[in-house]
Amino acid sequence: MKEKWWRNSVVYQIYPRSFCDSNGDGVGDINGIRSKLWYLKKLGIDIIWLSPVYPSPNADNGYDISDYYGISSEFGTIDGMKELIQECENCGIKIMMDLVLNHTSDEHPWFIEAKSAINNPYHEYYIWRKGNHVPNDMESCFGGSAWEYSKETEEYYLHFFHKKQPDLNWENKNVRTEIWKMINYWIDMGIKGFRLDVIDMIGKVPDLKIKENGPKLHEYLQEMNRETFGNKDIVTVGECWGADTEIGKLYSSPDRKELDMIFQFEQMQADQIAGKEKWDLKPLDFIYLKHTFAKWQKELDGKGWNSLFWNNHDLPRIVSRWGNDKEYRVESAKMLATVLHGMKGTPYIYQGEEIGMTNYPFSSKEDFADVEAINMYQERKQNGYSEKEILHSLCAKARDNARTPMQWNHSHAAGFTEGNPWYPVNPNYKEINVEIALDDKNSIFYYYQKLIQLRKENKILVDGNFTLLCPEDKHIFAYTREWNGKKWVIICNFYKEPALLLFSGKGNVILSNYPQEQTISLEQIHLRPYEAMICEII
Ligand code: NOJ
Repeated sequence: MKEKWWRNSVVYQIYPRSFCDSNGDGVGDINGIRSKLWYLKKLGIDIIWLSPVYPSPNADNGYDISDYYGISSEFGTIDGMKELIQECENCGIKIMMDLVLNHTSDEHPWFIEAKSAINNPYHEYYIWRKGNHVPNDMESCFGGSAWEYSKETEEYYLHFFHKKQPDLNWENKNVRTEIWKMINYWIDMGIKGFRLDVIDMIGKVPDLKIKENGPKLHEYLQEMNRETFGNKDIVTVGECWGADTEIGKLYSSPDRKELDMIFQFEQMQADQIAGKEKWDLKPLDFIYLKHTFAKWQKELDGKGWNSLFWNNHDLPRIVSRWGNDKEYRVESAKMLATVLHGMKGTPYIYQGEEIGMTNYPFSSKEDFADVEAINMYQERKQNGYSEKEILHSLCAKARDNARTPMQWNHSHAAGFTEGNPWYPVNPNYKEINVEIALDDKNSIFYYYQKLIQLRKENKILVDGNFTLLCPEDKHIFAYTREWNGKKWVIICNFYKEPALLLFSGKGNVILSNYPQEQTISLEQIHLRPYEAMICEII
């Protein structure tokens, strides 16, 4: 079987609104991305995951689509998009579009038709229930009921996100046919990958209160595969919040003909009180983190494929979350990168992660723009939480942390725009920006560049067997990869406190975030704060 090209690829996620603004309106755009392709090329990534660029009323920053075939005028034009695809192709980068298929905007023509009358053919494109009461107690992921009353037809419709994001009715064959047509349109335009937003929700059965992993989910995915990308050279990744490793295999096992890989979040819940919301914080459970990663490495080995990520547009910045964004920002950012990029799977880098961008120093509720944060504030206020508690959770977890503009240089608005940025730039942009990173050969940027290169040059990183070392150690995240008679060891001190690892033999240092001898003893490894290394055992 031909080796899949994406197995040694690295994905870079662009959140277009915050990446680079070319026309001074304060909003990032497609021409801005085009102007920075040299930068992505230099980093060495293979695929751009482009968060939605379609027309949208922006109730959820583009994840509420009103036209699947167009480009939002804020971001550019369809011709600009074609040029971007072509220019990417010229420099060997592929584009992965974001497909938001669980819901549309309420301003999508389908929904406008659907809500106008019960006998309108589009009515059945969405999910409606009659009655004088809210149909059941299902909740929206953004807080409050998942049902909204619509006075035109005197019914409730389902929305698992904002009320301006009505859920599509996947039971309806016409909905599916429309979606296949749209996916094929983007394939014909030269798109080489798709990221499927909350794809685990499309098989919902609201009357049984089933939101994720519904009974027909995999049937729909197999149909999608047959009707669209199945026989094409395209990479697909499904966002699945509710997947365990068994479910992960259903999505990504090649013989099931669904998706190529999954994007699951189990390890990202290591600082959240079990069974509660993401806002209910607890100190990082480091042992859980290691064991969860190790479980996915083992369980999917040869049976599926996983994404490796710390960040995306919904998550806080990892160097602030589990690293040290003060005196060890550089060391800890490199350490976190090492932990992730040493594993099996496809690594994802979220814009700014490669220069160690940090969380924003929010100080009041007015600082938050995201619908999820705003709703959470109101809900928790009503439920008696103190202002301090709420702000504490928001500072740690709000999605706004990831969405501040990309920090390019030390000029106005960090070089993101010549105008007024749609969202404030992190005030640390004079110390943390691309220009500084490119001028410093020891920067986080060049460390990521090396990690990406290593994956391309060493099959051991792609295919090697994974074994977790010292599973109960409270500071060290270490594991080996083995392939074809070779053995690498990846050793990371996850904390500021020095740590000691007892191992054996000698190693050639391949990469490290502190100066090292070329060959070191691996008998007793004294690790400095956030020290990380990759060694080949000799
Ligand atoms: C997941 C996306 O990543 C998030 O940003 C969005 O709000 C929801 N899906 C709804 O589309």
